[in-house]
Amino acid sequence: MAYENILVEKLEGRVGLIRLNRPRALNALSSALVRELMDALRALNADDEVGCIVITGSERVFAAGADIKEMSTATPVEMLAVDLLDWDALRKAKKPVIAAVSGWALGGGCELAMACDMIVASETATFGQPEINLGIIPGAGGTQRLIRAVGKALAMEMILNARNLSAEEAYQFGLVNRVVPAESYLDEALTLAREIAARAPVAVRLAKEAVNKAYEMTLAEGLAYEQRAFFLLFSTEDQREGMQAFMEKRKPEWKGR
Ligand code: HXC
Repeated sequence: MAYENILVEKLEGRVGLIRLNRPRALNALSSALVRELMDALRALNADDEVGCIVITGSERVFAAGADIKEMSTATPVEMLAVDLLDWDALRKAKKPVIAAVSGWALGGGCELAMACDMIVASETATFGQPEINLGIIPGAGGTQRLIRAVGKALAMEMILNARNLSAEEAYQFGLVNRVVPAESYLDEALTLAREIAARAPVAVRLAKEAVNKAYEMTLAEGLAYEQRAFFLLFSTEDQREGMQAFMEKRKPEWKGR
């Protein structure tokens, strides 16, 4: 499929890479870009040759938020129609999605990174929810995901007073998995993606699902959910193979079933 606002590649090691590519607008998330991003996620998610997905921008900017020029005159009904905020293909992705963030991740850009399963940040990454400066609030998960990541105190300051976080702060507060030099942030994210893509696929899928359920369930419900997923894995060939390989002191060969 031909895209105008993103670049999509399949890389060796079962990794799908999506680059946001509107450099002149600092990768602002226009409705066209969001539509393409969701189409690409759907395609990579359905592709058996892909085990893990990486979303990145450029070294200067991950994404500077929703497209302010497009939004400035939009009506609520128009915004509803383009599904600017729903990001269903990302929420429903069965495969792990890693954000590789360098430079600005503001507003919807910060929300996009947080909606991924993990974040690898470059030293230059800056995370923020500056919507208050525009007379609005975050609309794609910022008020909900940020408190779960960094706690209420800091989330309030970021959302009510447009306080940005440096990469190092984001690491200290648990928003990102690691901070690496700008030259290597993408390689680092791709290495992480290849490592995960090489693991037992059904276990990876159920692990991701179970961790995400922790956001939405009580502890008792979450523990029960985890147990069901755990038992289910004992119906896979990969469980037999993984344990047999351990006992035979060799590397397992995963079948994905
Ligand atoms: C549209 C944008 C944009 C945006 C930057 N540009 N951000 N266009 N929407 N979100 C455009 C500028 O207008 C400019 O185009 C060009 O990109 C370069 O930007 P500059 O401002 O000149 O660059 P710089 O001085 O380096 O400042 C970088 C910046 C700043 C700090 C990131 O651009 C900025 O504050 N951007 C807005 C960030 C923001 O408020 N985001 C939240 C958006 S609301 P021209 O044509 O003038 O050269 C949101 C709601 C979430 O995200 C909803 C969920 C999707």
